[in-house]
Amino acid sequence: MNIKETIRSIPGWPIEGVIFRDITTLMQDPDAYRKACDLFYERYKDKGIQKVVGIDARGFVFGAVLAYQLGVGFVPVRKKGKLPWKTIEESYALEYGEAEVEMHEDAIEKGEKVVIIDDLIATGGTIEAAIKLVSSLGGDIVECGFIVELPDLDGRAKTGDTPIYAMCEFE
Ligand code: PRP
Ligand code: ADE
Repeated sequence: MNIKETIRSIPGWPIEGVIFRDITTLMQDPDAYRKACDLFYERYKDKGIQKVVGIDARGFVFGAVLAYQLGVGFVPVRKKGKLPWKTIEESYALEYGEAEVEMHEDAIEKGEKVVIIDDLIATGGTIEAAIKLVSSLGGDIVECGFIVELPDLDGRAKTGDTPIYAMCEFE
């Protein structure tokens, strides 16, 4: 079973010129969903990870499962205005629009080993913002893990020295 083949592509959504890579079809296929979650677990189980950070909203679907499997805590990076306690925030540009993300200021302890999980890296704006949030709290980012990378958009240019892993690529 090939994970990439379970991802649906939708040309022209949400705006003309974008081909949307829809992971809901992966998630609703039990074998593909389990395989994607297990690939993350196998990759990170021996890395001494102490927290999983998942990015709103599709990163929660995979990040929370990984945290459960690793037996560590889960921290959400959320779109602005959703978190109830004191937050730190970062703004960034998207492939289609602009946004701000936030994290609770007490979510990560200095020196904690962290993996950041999202479904997809496109321009890298979102993960760059998440890396800044985690780093500003003193988190030690082991890697950022994705299901999909869109290499043509060169998201890696925004992630500096932080290692990036993706299960598959689309042009
Ligand atoms: C998508 C995707 C990533 C981000 C990647 O999320 O899930 O988080 O875009 O794009 P980038 O690399 O260009 O920053 P989106 O902001 O659409 O939010 P959603 O998960 O709530 O749909
Ligand atoms: N987030 C940013 N660009 C995307 C794309 N092309 N498909 C799915 N999610 C995205």
